[in-house]
Amino acid sequence: MFRNQRLGESRQDVLEYLSSREADLRIFHSDLLVDKAHLLMLKEQNLISREICAKILAAIDELLDKGPEALGPGEDVHEAIEAYILDKVGPEGGRMHTGRSRNDEVAACIRLSLREEMLSLMEGQIGLIQTILRLAAEHTQTIVPGFTHTQHAQPTTLAHHLLSHADAAARDLARLEEAYLRVNQSPLGAAAFASTGFKIDRSLTARLLGFQGLVENSMDAVSTRDFILEVLSDLAIEMVNLSRLSEELVLWSTSEFAYLELDNLYASTSSIMPQKKNPDTAELARARAGSVMGSLVSALAICKALPLSYNRDLQEVTAHLWRAVDWTASTVRILSGCMASLKFNRDRLENSSAAGFSTATEIADSLVRLTGMPFRTAHSIVGRIAAGGERPQLDDVDRIALEIAGFKASERGFSQHDLDIALDPRSNVALRANTGGPAPQETERMVRDREKGIAGAEERLRQRREHSRRALEDLKSQSQY
Ligand code: ARG
Repeated sequence: MFRNQRLGESRQDVLEYLSSREADLRIFHSDLLVDKAHLLMLKEQNLISREICAKILAAIDELLDKGPEALGPGEDVHEAIEAYILDKVGPEGGRMHTGRSRNDEVAACIRLSLREEMLSLMEGQIGLIQTILRLAAEHTQTIVPGFTHTQHAQPTTLAHHLLSHADAAARDLARLEEAYLRVNQSPLGAAAFASTGFKIDRSLTARLLGFQGLVENSMDAVSTRDFILEVLSDLAIEMVNLSRLSEELVLWSTSEFAYLELDNLYASTSSIMPQKKNPDTAELARARAGSVMGSLVSALAICKALPLSYNRDLQEVTAHLWRAVDWTASTVRILSGCMASLKFNRDRLENSSAAGFSTATEIADSLVRLTGMPFRTAHSIVGRIAAGGERPQLDDVDRIALEIAGFKASERGFSQHDLDIALDPRSNVALRANTGGPAPQETERMVRDREKGIAGAEERLRQRREHSRRALEDLKSQSQY
């Protein structure tokens, strides 16, 4: 016993090592659909009799009803399902595996399950973007400090800040939509890798399963997992973007910032410090980005330098995919809820928006506009003013302008009123009305534009769902026996 444990000598130990049964739970349902499509195609091509096909289909339906718990042992779900069919139908059930291999089967199952997961991921992402857009629409007038280097930089609006996250999230959605095209292709019929001598119809199985084309080359079809690498890359990027949002939730909820408060549902208290309200959900969202990145790097490392065609290594990739999908889906869900229930401290945000002399750029800009001096000269003047404090008077500006530019600003049309306007965060923001800027009318336009964009994404998602649903419903009705 002791010796076996150390040397891995027991058959059970080896089987467990080889097993993909846990991760295979994710493809159980897909596998039965793939089986059905393959059977219908075999029948259509006269490679299997109507009677045997009907018997196997009946056994599949029974298994669909009972669920994966009805399966016996086996190193993977494909083996266990085949054993179940053989048990129910007898040796004739073995005809199901005509003209295929577990290699094309597993690739088809992963793609089918992933397709459905991606549709849910897209739905979640759309929900998150809509939540952020709703908040942005509410806060086009909320002045907030903007940061570079985590230092107060210039005033902006909360809408502008939120729209920035919304746009990143929309790109993440667009990447998933793109990747879907390459996921939703059928490797089925590639068999082990060299195709098969049976006269099968690959287009038919693809159509029956709602795939939108073939992974044509049969060697490529069983060898590639780049569709997984692509989705994992997209999820890792998405999670990195979400980690930046999460980080701001953490930072902005500290008592030092006090810009916002998380709803109690999304916060935890300390087991020892009764006064504490910790932003644990945002912290875990930030951390899960690291986990998803880990999944990507693991999958890349497993695939790197693998010779063609199928190698068992590929089995190891799939578990990383499902983990990353789950982490991303739950993070998006939790962050949506957390964002929707945020309480922003408008007064505090507005009051801090001028901190750190964040209107300095606008004073320099005003000097340029009103006196005609070059920007670099104005920058030097305001730099000197900034060194002297945060609330300069016209006299200060004039004195330093005389020193640096050789004239007083007030002699060239720059008044105390102009200075006051430049120092006002709200007018700073109003002036920045160029495309993509924080001015309320511009952020209102961006919200409307993004809402249109997201409505388009919703429609594309609806169509994809519909296509998949229809295909699988047709598959179901065609496999009535
Ligand atoms: N469980 C395997 C996987 O996930 C299925 C394919 C097994 N094929 C093989 N030739 N051993 O990759």
